[in-house]
Amino acid sequence: MKSKIVFLTGAGISQESGIKTFRDADGLWNNHDIMEVASPQAWAKNPKLVLEFYNQRRRQLHEVQPNAAHRAITKLQAYFPVEVITQNVDDLHERAGNKNVWHLHGELFKVRSEKNENLVYEWKKDLHLGDTAEDGAQLRPHIVWFGEAVPMIEKVLPVVQQADIFIIVGTGMQVYPAAGLVHELKSGVSVYYIDPYPSPLSIGNPLHIIAKKAGEGLPELVEELIKKAD
Ligand code: APR
Repeated sequence: MKSKIVFLTGAGISQESGIKTFRDADGLWNNHDIMEVASPQAWAKNPKLVLEFYNQRRRQLHEVQPNAAHRAITKLQAYFPVEVITQNVDDLHERAGNKNVWHLHGELFKVRSEKNENLVYEWKKDLHLGDTAEDGAQLRPHIVWFGEAVPMIEKVLPVVQQADIFIIVGTGMQVYPAAGLVHELKSGVSVYYIDPYPSPLSIGNPLHIIAKKAGEGLPELVEELIKKAD
């Protein structure tokens, strides 16, 4: 039976594609106040500012491409059952051909009614005040803001609990409940953590730190895993 491989990815896997992370030196949160652009309070206080923040990030997403790390996951999927749980809202996993992608924090190319979270639409252009859903309500980014629930977490829990190998790539493991998933693994499951500046992790499982950029460390690990698959 082939080992089931589950990824948990964060902003670091998209960094080499040119998308800023959040907490690195030049990160998004160093240039914006989270509470001014990524919270329900911000949306209530100044929706125009929030819309512009996401319009800028949505415009940039049209200009960037997946990198070697995203492509390495696609290669791995030819040899193993693979699931990708991501905190990222970009579509680079999908554009690289990754299947079974779970977006914990929403998607930049989707919007929804601010009144009914089930009215979700593909949306790749700028979003403005006055753009409304079929229920007549203002459209908002389909993104989980700080202080909001993470509905996907219940759906990915069984995925994590079925993992035989867990690979963390490019996340500071600072934001919950995403960061807590590593504690939901079966005992004995090997954990690999690819990040040039890995945060300290205290877990009971075997931990292999690969202190490299995703674009270098992940293709190397994928080659190793494929060799073992034969
Ligand atoms: N390759 C791999 N990892 C990298 C690279 C790279 N080229 N460049 C940076 N990193 C690492 C950093 O060392 C850091 O550990 O990526 C991580 C980025 O951490 P954050 O900026 O905190 O991003 P992330 O962990 O994804 O944030 C989680 O917080 O702001 C919220 O909702 C937002 O999904 C986001 C969540």
